Amino acid sequence: MSKLIDCLKLNKNSCFPIWFMRQAGRYLPEFREIRKKNTNFIKLCLNPKLSTEITLQPINRYNLDAAIIFSDILLVPYALGQNVNFKGSEGPTLSEINIEEFLKDHSDNFINIMKPVYDAINTTREKLHHDKSLICFVGAPWTLSLYMLNLKNNTEEIIKNSSKIKQLITHLEKYLKKHILKQYNSGANCVQIFDSWAGLLPEKLIEEFCYKPNKSLVDFCKKNKIPVICFPKGLKKKYKEFKSTVKPNGINIDYEVDPVWARDNLSDVCLQGGMDPKTLLKSDKEILFEVDKYLEVFKNSPYIFNLGHGILPETNPDKIKMIIQRVEKKR
Ligand code: CP3
Repeated sequence: MSKLIDCLKLNKNSCFPIWFMRQAGRYLPEFREIRKKNTNFIKLCLNPKLSTEITLQPINRYNLDAAIIFSDILLVPYALGQNVNFKGSEGPTLSEINIEEFLKDHSDNFINIMKPVYDAINTTREKLHHDKSLICFVGAPWTLSLYMLNLKNNTEEIIKNSSKIKQLITHLEKYLKKHILKQYNSGANCVQIFDSWAGLLPEKLIEEFCYKPNKSLVDFCKKNKIPVICFPKGLKKKYKEFKSTVKPNGINIDYEVDPVWARDNLSDVCLQGGMDPKTLLKSDKEILFEVDKYLEVFKNSPYIFNLGHGILPETNPDKIKMIIQRVEKKR
């Protein structure tokens, strides 16, 4: 079995498997080269040949323990009929949702549109060394709803729209489960659920919009024996309640979480990540100091080395190599 899956199943401590969120992305010149010629991001994600190639770019460069399939959480709203546009610097924009249309059954069409992702997983798995894991992912229902309803990071808007959000979440869960199972059956070895905007939820909605839908997806994964990592970014001390309620195999902590607090308060779970991606823009000495800090804190725990969010586009690719070598030395 691979190092990453072993660690997730709590079979082994201190072996520090390593991978990075956004390891296939704009910080790599070879990614920018392909991206320049493929201006439509959704189309690029749905090109199995190119998405396989991009997934393997960081694997060819570095000694990582896992690949993450090149795709996007917003393919799900796209496959359910919403227009998704990645142009401009403001982040993705989605066309206005027609709720009535959205609530109809899209099952057959959904799987058809997503087929290139499953094909890419299949070919990537074939090309990947057997001791490396292939990670697939989905966005959590709340984070997807935020994009789908164009909620502009605004508590009042969230509360005003809560019945609509509830409707969306329930409907999304069904498709996210299909998507997880299809990806797993195509060759992925585990799944990561990104709840990137969990930290925006007002306290009284966290249970309903974050814990409940994440738990529904995690229970589905457990039923199907799929190892699962959750990333409820921004929950601060509520990571503890998230862990005891949702009970995934792994939890990625973000850069606002004190690693010592996480180690002492989040037990019986494999922890992952934490280091601030902005640290990678600092001097080598500062970077290695931070790497050592995480390795020291988690030296007797099941811990997967990663960051507290994705690699920033302005990161120098050599720094990734340096970090991997440091982690290898401390195993
Ligand atoms: O290497 C990997 O991590 C795998 C691929 C991956 C992408 N998106 C490719 C991508 C993964 C795991 C994601 C997840 C994703 N997508 C999340 C959750 C993680 C997070 O970042 O919080 C979210 C919120 C999205 C939605 C999304 N996609 C945004 C907000 C953006 C634009 C801003 C940004 O972060 O780049 C994207 C575009 C995107 N997805 C890029 C990549 C490589 C950049 C595309 C480009 O070249 O312009």
